[in-house]
This record gives sequence, structure tokens and C-alpha cells, in this order.
Amino acid sequence: MRTQVAIVGAGPAGLLLSHLLHLQGIESVVLESRSKEEIESTIRAGVLEQGTMDILANSGVGERMKKEGALHHGFELAFNGARHRIDLHELTGKAITVYAQHEVIKDLVAAREAAGGQILFGVRNVALHDTQTDTPSVTFEHHGEGARIDADFIAGCDGFHGVARPAMPQEGRNDYDRVYPFGWFGILVEAPPSAPELIYARHERGFALVSTRSPTVQRMYFQCDPKDKAENWSDDRIWAEMHARTEGSDGWRLTEGKIFQKNVVGMRSFVSTPMQAGRLFLAGDAAHIVPPTGAKGMNLAVSDVNFLAQGIEQFYKQGASERLERYTEDALKRVWRAEYFSWWMTSMLHTFADASPFQREVQRAELENVVASRALATALAENYVGAF
Ligand code: FAD
Ligand code: DHB
Repeated sequence: MRTQVAIVGAGPAGLLLSHLLHLQGIESVVLESRSKEEIESTIRAGVLEQGTMDILANSGVGERMKKEGALHHGFELAFNGARHRIDLHELTGKAITVYAQHEVIKDLVAAREAAGGQILFGVRNVALHDTQTDTPSVTFEHHGEGARIDADFIAGCDGFHGVARPAMPQEGRNDYDRVYPFGWFGILVEAPPSAPELIYARHERGFALVSTRSPTVQRMYFQCDPKDKAENWSDDRIWAEMHARTEGSDGWRLTEGKIFQKNVVGMRSFVSTPMQAGRLFLAGDAAHIVPPTGAKGMNLAVSDVNFLAQGIEQFYKQGASERLERYTEDALKRVWRAEYFSWWMTSMLHTFADASPFQREVQRAELENVVASRALATALAENYVGAF
């Protein structure tokens, strides 16, 4: 089989790249190791920046997001028993949309299928070949049979544990890594929203986040031991922790409901450079990871492939490689700012077991500063909505 761009991974990065290329008349094939049902039901991100919303809407896959997603003009920071609103819209003129990642995936899969795009699900043993020549190829198994795709480019959109990053030439590589000593325990709850906007809470017992998915389903997280297991937590224990960490003296109470999904995720910051070598390009989690505080991961995946699609378009339409050559530089500018912001939000809001009393007080003072200073609140809001 031959195509112009072989894409490994049908996450937000791979599917959107395939869609954006199609809009420019460029062919691709997407190879995905999981089934369609699995990718369309895995619960992950929920917050779309304005820029992400614009890219989805302008490329014709924003209909359901606009109808079913919830536009949020602010969020709250809770600490010391009180809640403080960060007015995103007033501070930046922008907003965010809460719309689940797997709904974005469904919309992109539907768009690719409607356009006759090829997504091969359930592939095995994907291997990349000759990536440093002009004739790269990918081999894999599909329905138990060996197959091969010859392409002009390979896009590694296969997430943190994929095969693309390890296939990069090792010479000149730099990896930056930080693993945090805590994780997030995530739950999905059948209940109405407890509050009109997201609440990021800092408490001595640890961080907690009250988010939402729909008028009847809520998403919540709390800081936990990264090695903890979902089955160690009864519903009663979860609610006791969520109440303790989010409620203050103003009478506001978290609304409980039936918990129908529990999971624990580890947290790390990671950047692997360069994001390209020869005809192999990395995008999204394959190249970088942020801790979820600040909700940047999926948004970075979207901005990477937006750059990459423009570079590939220039290659085919103008016969020029200038934008492709600049891809790492262009993408990394955004990546490092988001790495900084996610690290900052994580450091400001989580409990560190080894923090001294001094460090704990300074952490609290930092939050006081953010809500007291319009300049600091604006910086936080600009980063959150992705204003640059
Ligand atoms: P992925 O979504 O990981 O997709 C990679 C795909 O490649 C997968 O489908 C995988 O099955 C496939 N694959 C892997 N290996 C192979 C292989 N060898 N062959 C073929 N296919 C392969 N981000 C936000 O922006 N906002 C948020 O609110 C947010 N919240 C989050 C909350 C949690 C709890 C978590 C865990 C993450 C959150 N993120 C958030 C991060 C976000 O989910 C990721 O950054 C995003 O999924 C990255 O997209 P991607 O396409 O690069 O990779
Ligand atoms: C969600 C996830 C995040 O990481 C975040 O910062 C806000 C919301 C969510 O899944 O709803």
C-alpha cells in the first residue's frame, strides 16, 4: 500500500492530522493498535482552549462541540476555606470549552470515515523503516496478516508509550523528565454539577478538582499516592476526601452521586527533542507530557499537528520544506510554555510530603498573591486559555 503520510496512532493528534491533511487534498493512512470502541470510550481530557476550539470549528468538526460542550468564562481557586474566581473572559477576552476528549475522537473518526479516510484499527507490531531517507515505510500486522505502507512522511502520534519516539535516531537527542511524587484519582459521577465552573482546590490533605462532563455526569479528581489502586477506595472514603478538600466556611457543599468509574493516573513532565528527524515527525504525547493540572495535554497535541499539517501542505503545494524544517522550533515554543504553566499549577496546588512548614506557607502566599494581583491573575488566565 502507498500513501503520502503514514500516521501512527488514532488519538487527538493522529486523527486531527489526518483530517487537516485531507482538507488540503493530502492522503494519509492512520494505524491504531486499539479498537474503535476502545478509543471512543477511553476517559481522558476535558478542557479545550479557545485555539483548539477554533481549529476544530474552522476545520468543520466543531458542530457537536459547540452544541454539547459547555463554554466556561472562568474557574475558581479554593484554598484556606474560601473560593476565588478567576474571570478568564474579563482578563483575556477568551474562554474554554469543557468537552470530553473521547467526544472529540468520535467527531474526528466520523469525519474521516465520512470522507472515505483510512483508519486501520487493531494493528499489531508496528515498525518504522528508512525514516532517514526520502522513502520511509511502516510494517505491521492487520487481521493476522503482515502489511506494509510506503509513504513520503511518517507522523508518530502514538502517545508516550508508542514506537515512534524510540525509532528516532539517538544522536543529538535530549530528553527532559520530571516525575511527581503523587498521582490523580479520577472519578465519574452521576450527579448534577456542584458548581457552575471548575474548582481547583488546594488543601493540607492534598489537591482536588471539581470538573464536569454534562448536566448529568460530573468529573472529579483528587491527589493520591501514584501507586494507589482504585479498588482501595470505597465510595464513602472518596466522598469524605472530596468534601474535606473542597468545602469551606461559605456553606457551599459538593453534590454526591453514583460513582461509575474510578482510575489512578501518574504525573510527569517530559519533553523529548528534536521532534523531527529525516522524514519522521513526532506530535502530541509521543514528544511531550505535562501533568494534567492546567489541562494542556490535548491542546498541545492539537497545536503540534496544526504546525505539522501546515508544513506538509507547504511541501506538497509549494515544493518547499522551510516550515517542516522549522517544525520542532515552532512546536517547542508552545510546548515549553505549557510545560512551565503545568509545572507551576501543579507546584502551587498540590501537597508535597517533604515540604517544610516554610515551603507550605510560601505556597499558600503564592495563591494569595495570584488572587490579589490582577497582573498575576491575568498571567494565570492567559496561560489557561492559551492566549498566545
Ligand atoms: P494519545 O491520546 O495517547 O493517542 C495515542 C494513540 O496511539 C492511542 O490511541 C494509542 O492506542 C495509539 N498507539 C500507541 N502505541 C501504538 C502503536 N505502537 N501502534 C499503533 N497505535 C499505537 N489534556 C488536555 O488538554 N486537557 C485536559 O483536561 C486533560 N486532562 C487529562 C486528564 C487525565 C486524567 C489524563 C490522563 C490526561 C489528560 N490530558 C488532558 C492529556 C491528554 O489526554 C493527552 O495529552 C492527549 O490524549 C494526547 O493526545 P495524543 O494523540 O498525542 O496521544
Ligand atoms: C479536567 C482535567 C484537567 O486536567 C483539568 O485541569 C481540568 C479538567 C477534566 O478532565 O475535566
